[in-house]
Amino acid sequence: MAPRRRPPLALLALAVLLLLPGGLLVANPAFIRMTRLEEADEPVARFPHWTHQEGFKCYACHPSLFSMTRKTGFTHEDMGEGRFCGACHDGQTAFHHDQDEDHECEECHVE
Ligand code: HEC
Ligand code: HEC
Ligand code: HEC
Repeated sequence: MAPRRRPPLALLALAVLLLLPGGLLVANPAFIRMTRLEEADEPVARFPHWTHQEGFKCYACHPSLFSMTRKTGFTHEDMGEGRFCGACHDGQTAFHHDQDEDHECEECHVE
């Protein structure tokens, strides 16, 4: 009987990469500066990525609400339709992005 041929090294390396948890393969910044579409005085919104990961799995947001590989530009009008941050910041799952007495604009629009 002929000995079994060993799989090529590249294939083994690929298998190891695929077994690693996704978070180790890509950058996972603590804070992300969002993208501004319309000119305004407020500082561009800053998203606390890590604190959101305490309550949600990656797939709560990726790729359905936000891409991991490309910046997504959107406005309050989009959020008002329940999209992007507005999928949760609707006054039910999380504080409303626009009209919540206990939360200030500065929570998101921080320098
Ligand atoms: C509550 C929503 C939410 C959760 C949960 C979440 N992310 Fe994100 N993630 C975002 C947003 C918002 C962005 C920024 C998108 C943009 O800039 O348009 C982002 C961006 C990224 C990026 C791109 C970073 C960069 O510098 O461009 C990576 C990579 C990423 N996330 C990985 C993860 C991983 C891994 C997890 C789970 C451990 C995770 N995310 C969980 C919302 C989330
Ligand atoms: C839950 C987070 C959050 C809160 C709270 C929030 N915003 Fe925003 N806002 C964003 C995000 C995300 C964007 C899109 C990125 C950017 O332009 O900063 C945005 C965009 C904007 C813009 C750009 C134009 C537009 O309509 O998108 C203005 C102006 C603005 N916000 C003002 C405010 C004011 C005023 C408040 C308080 C009443 C507020 N924001 C509260 C997240 C928030
Ligand atoms: C999958 C649901 C979900 C999405 C999407 C989401 N958030 Fe949140 N966010 C929460 C919850 C839940 C809390 C904590 C509960 C609360 O304070 O109402 C929170 C809290 C926050 C806080 C308070 C500070 C902190 O670290 O907890 C900020 C600021 C914030 N979110 C900004 C954003 C911005 C900006 C976006 C869009 C880029 C966004 N969030 C998208 C669920 C979400």
